[in-house]
Amino acid sequence: MPEDEPPVSATNDPFSYHRPVLPAEVVQYLAPGPGKIFLDATLGGGGHSELLLQAGAQVIALDQDTEALEHARHRLRGHATRFCAFHANFRDFAAMLEEAGIGKLDGILADIGVSSWQLDSAERGFSFSQDGPLDMRMNQQAGRTAAELVNDSDVVELERILREYGEERQARRIARAIVARRAERPFTRTGDLAAFIAGVVPRHGKTHPATQCFQAIRIAVNEELTALAEFLAAAPRWLKPGGRLALISFHSMEDRMVKQAFARCSTEWLDRPEWPEPRRNPEHCLRLLTRKPVEASEEEVKINPRSRSAKLRVAERIEA
Ligand SMILES: C[S@@+](CC[C@H](N)C(=O)[O-])C[C@H]1O[C@@H](n2cnc3c(N)ncnc32)[C@H](O)[C@@H]1O
Repeated sequence: MPEDEPPVSATNDPFSYHRPVLPAEVVQYLAPGPGKIFLDATLGGGGHSELLLQAGAQVIALDQDTEALEHARHRLRGHATRFCAFHANFRDFAAMLEEAGIGKLDGILADIGVSSWQLDSAERGFSFSQDGPLDMRMNQQAGRTAAELVNDSDVVELERILREYGEERQARRIARAIVARRAERPFTRTGDLAAFIAGVVPRHGKTHPATQCFQAIRIAVNEELTALAEFLAAAPRWLKPGGRLALISFHSMEDRMVKQAFARCSTEWLDRPEWPEPRRNPEHCLRLLTRKPVEASEEEVKINPRSRSAKLRVAERIEA
């Protein structure tokens, strides 16, 4: 696409692609300003990056979705001297920064999960409410699709994915039913899979019966939890002393991983019954700035219902 041609997602509404959650809180904790450099590990529609740029900071951004990159590069073209964006998975951010010759950072932001644009675009295959190809890859250039996962995984693997990533109590029943049905006719469409799951398990309340299965399949397709674990292990080393790491998550599993990673790096002394005395924690390099996760205000949830489940945790790099 020529650089000056707007992508299909560009409209006059800055939030048509995605409305950033907890915008004021992100700015408050990251304290962007001239001379500071940040990594936005999940560029998406560019909303958070824009806030950092508007405060005068430099932003290096990445996203594994080329549609997001096209959209955000166009939206942020006015900040070109202080902004650059790369197509990469955030699990590889360190290699990307090294290659680009970028040193330590004043802050790192990751707002993990999917964007509204991805969720609402039927052809991306994330949605059970709109029919589309069973894809769900954030990076459409790599990896196996949701259809490949659903049609090729053995029943044990399928059950594990639904149980572990979707916390789906009927995982075994659904996995067995999927395996029996696909032998006759493989799954290729989101609408077909959603309707099939709804026929296997009853609806409880307002939630669609396929909600947790779709979440689980998406997490597996995009290897979301391993990517997050690798990112969390590497991120603190890339902060200057006083630099801040801000993580926004939307699922309890991810928030637990962030909480545990922050706890591991912010504990100064370790003690075990078999040790004669406590020992210094070699991983100690962070100070917690949020003991409890920061959540969206009622006003924000009213404007942006997707912010309801957002949890922000922030930690600061100490002198090593
Ligand atoms: C919730 S959106 C981010 C929205 C963004 N903060 C904004 O203000 O518009 C999440 C974005 O992160 C991207 N993403 C998720 N996991 C990723 C990963 N492991 N590596 C790179 N990008 C990822 C998705 O493609 C999506 O565009």
